[in-house]
Amino acid sequence: MIILGISALYHDSAAAIIINGDIIAAAQEERFTRKKHDNNLPINAIKYCFEAANISMIDVDEVVYYDNSLLTLDRFMSNVSELGNEADFLLETKYKGLIKSRLSIDKLIRNEFAVIGKKDTLSVCEHHISHAASAFYPSPYESAAILTIDGVGEWATTTIGIGHGNKIEILKEIDYPHSLGLLYSAFTSFCGFKVNSGDYKFMGLAPYGEPVYYDLLKENVIDIKQDGSYRLNMEFFEFHKGSHMTGRKMEELFGGPAREIESKITKREMDIAASVQKITEEVVAGLARYALELTKEKNLVMAGGVALNCVANGKLIKNGVVRNLWVQPAAGDAGGALGCALYSYYQINNNSRKVGVKDSQKGSYLGPEYSSEEIGEFLKKNNYTSQFYDDKKELFRDVAGEISKGKVVGWFNGRMEFGPRALGNRSILGNPMDTEMQSKLNLKIKYRESFRPFAPSILKEKYSEYFECNIESPYMLLCENVVESRRLPFNREELMKTHQGDMLPVVNTARSDVPAITHVDYSARIQTVSEDTNPDYYHLIKEFEKITGCPILINTSFNVRGEPIVCSPEDAYKCFMRTEMDILVLGNYVLKKTEQRKFDDIDDWRKEYVLD
Ligand SMILES: [Fe+2]
Repeated sequence: MIILGISALYHDSAAAIIINGDIIAAAQEERFTRKKHDNNLPINAIKYCFEAANISMIDVDEVVYYDNSLLTLDRFMSNVSELGNEADFLLETKYKGLIKSRLSIDKLIRNEFAVIGKKDTLSVCEHHISHAASAFYPSPYESAAILTIDGVGEWATTTIGIGHGNKIEILKEIDYPHSLGLLYSAFTSFCGFKVNSGDYKFMGLAPYGEPVYYDLLKENVIDIKQDGSYRLNMEFFEFHKGSHMTGRKMEELFGGPAREIESKITKREMDIAASVQKITEEVVAGLARYALELTKEKNLVMAGGVALNCVANGKLIKNGVVRNLWVQPAAGDAGGALGCALYSYYQINNNSRKVGVKDSQKGSYLGPEYSSEEIGEFLKKNNYTSQFYDDKKELFRDVAGEISKGKVVGWFNGRMEFGPRALGNRSILGNPMDTEMQSKLNLKIKYRESFRPFAPSILKEKYSEYFECNIESPYMLLCENVVESRRLPFNREELMKTHQGDMLPVVNTARSDVPAITHVDYSARIQTVSEDTNPDYYHLIKEFEKITGCPILINTSFNVRGEPIVCSPEDAYKCFMRTEMDILVLGNYVLKKTEQRKFDDIDDWRKEYVLD
């Protein structure tokens, strides 16, 4: 049975294909169109899925859409009727286009593919059921409590459910406008970052601040109940009106206007980020506890955009809320494509589900890959100078040697990752022991704010030598602290005072013997790398360990600021030449910057990509 899942027309569009329950391929449309968070019908992603499965649209048994547009329409209408005259702006700018495209999704698919699978009809799965299914079905658990938290689906913003065997059931639901995801986005925006793409920056800012606004938020903005359920005080929010996330009342509460985009980040923003992060952790922990209690389960699975908050996830483990946690790597709306397909296969079509020791996400390496021949052809066609390695062991040794000397490497190898994190197949790599590497990578490669930490990829078996937790984190979805014995004395408050709130000198002060991946609160967003899931990446790190004694590499996504992660060798080469990266690895080929001829860049990437 072949099922195609589609997520589109809201946030990150994506497609996923499963055959007899096996996840064959999944990818986000942005990677092909090079337009970040592309929300159009994912034509390219669908075509890639067909290619990977060696099929065409007429072979597909079910085509499933991840969201029920009629229910979304119901929410729009309810919002409009409550707003009265104030709704004109919302109708003109947001709803009109969305309603039109959502209600014509069948037509859009038929325009491109002539039919919608064998049945020529589109099945529909509710948004949070898609998230829940994406969290439970690929997990390594026979049964689990399910928690989904995002901005909003149709009406639901948070759900608690249970998964057992091949069935899932939603038990509790919190509805729009009460939304933890939208609260987080509202403050991301209030602090001058872009909603969605800026959420990660906002989370990275939190460790610089103190949660001094925590009480203020709880007294005025959000009411959190014992069971983790919550209500927002809508006097402080404007997102339901369509133009801004927050308004005058929020500015009054925080004693001044929202931060202008790209202006100096002050202590107020750091403290707001710390306070909102604390609120988020409290709600997530409350909901998780309640979900486990309600379902009497020991395992917890999560999805929805808020499940990408790796700090909150890490605290669930650290504080003993749950021992067994699995989070869908594509936790945002892209993952809905996979979820709705799995839901159709197991729940609707009642196929049995086998659970293995490992999850069935295949390391989330579900995207396109390029053969050595294809890469060779690309290099030859463009006459780019490269060195071919027949023996990959030699390649690992040479590249690891370069990284140990402080070189920055663009690493393009194998299948592209599904989800927002680069997991060692489309990654930029560096030496974590280098004190200046964090600011070098930020300023010369990624062209972004320098206060954000980088993530470590660590050999699985060396995990506990460096970090305080021993639960595997293959998808970079858990934050944990560096062990005490590796920490260096570091007084963040003192340093912040000395440098008058300037984060750059603080970032450049070593905090551990792996400074480039240790955040100012000693935390790190970890990826554990195992030999069976990604042997090439594992052996590269192993070679680095042989040379340096350190089993860790810095791993940041292969892109510049505002650019989707690279997909093809051509995207990788462009990104390599546009930045100060030293070396590019394309499968078995190694390219050195010093050996490349001048790159005639017809496009200015700073104009090509809207800053995130
Ligand atoms: Fe969602």
